[in-house]
Amino acid sequence: MKRVLLTGTGFLGARVLQQLAGRVEISAFPRGMLAKAGQEEILRVVQEQHPDCILHTAALSDTGYCQAHPEESHRANLLVPVWIAEAAGQVGAGLVAFSSDQVYAGLEDHGPFDEALPLSPANIYGQHKYEAEQRVLDLLPRAVLLRATWLYDLPGYGLPVRGNLPLNLWRAALTRQPLRFSCRDWRGVTYVRQAVENLLSAMELPGGVYNFGSENDTDMFETARRFCDAMGIAPPLEKGGWSRSLLMDTRKARAGGVVFDTTCEGIFRCLRDYGLAN
Ligand SMILES: NC(=O)c1ccc[n+]([C@@H]2O[C@H](COP(=O)([O-])OP(=O)(O)OC[C@H]3O[C@@H](n4cnc5c(N)ncnc54)[C@H](OP(=O)(O)O)[C@@H]3O)[C@@H](O)[C@H]2O)c1
Repeated sequence: MKRVLLTGTGFLGARVLQQLAGRVEISAFPRGMLAKAGQEEILRVVQEQHPDCILHTAALSDTGYCQAHPEESHRANLLVPVWIAEAAGQVGAGLVAFSSDQVYAGLEDHGPFDEALPLSPANIYGQHKYEAEQRVLDLLPRAVLLRATWLYDLPGYGLPVRGNLPLNLWRAALTRQPLRFSCRDWRGVTYVRQAVENLLSAMELPGGVYNFGSENDTDMFETARRFCDAMGIAPPLEKGGWSRSLLMDTRKARAGGVVFDTTCEGIFRCLRDYGLAN
């Protein structure tokens, strides 16, 4: 069985531990360690565990927090992945590391964007993620960098949840606080459990950067409306007019066997998993 060493036990990592248990031999960095550890300590853990593959999900993943704390973001989102790549190189391990669709922030076009496009991300988080991709690949060409979309899950299994689309909609339905979405905001939104499932195929991809998540053929206002229909709720939704596209073309990953539902199909998969839809 493949030996996988996980970094990060947050929203995604906690689900990786639960979902891939028994399908790979999985261990994790001690919780909280990567927020403080230096390169030597990180290398020591990698040498002790001697994994076949490191799955790097640890990050500072809050875009707004990173914008306000660029030095912390630099360490967490750029230096730590570089240290992990160096450690993977030293023990001969593979590396699958998470990047983000925020690398596409600031593009004027509508997309969907492919991985080859030269980028200049409009926010600190995206900048650090983008630079990390390049530095990691320079160090370790076999590394697989996954540009993830906004992820979601429902509460359950005793796992951490964070602000995500269906939860925000459910909360708004309960509180009657209006939620605002733009008809000119375009991005994919992905059911996290399908993303975790696809990690098994992602570990077999050739080195490189991959768009990794659900495509979306509609804007965020319409996406929110369709999620509400699927969930049978009617929160107050308002239309905003801001413009953005983070849409990803996922053909490269698909050619390697990594296949996602579309954004609007994904919510039905999620609801079926929880016994909330047929
Ligand atoms: N969630 C999304 O919607 C989304 C969308 C696009 C991309 N991503 C990317 O996917 C990956 C996983 O995201 P996530 O949602 O699981 O994030 P998360 O819930 O914020 O978890 C990240 C984990 O990283 C570790 N960590 C916290 N502070 C750190 C620091 N200063 N330095 C290094 N590590 C730190 C913690 O795990 P330990 O305590 O176990 O070390 C934390 O639980 C990240 O690379 C993120 O950027 C996420």
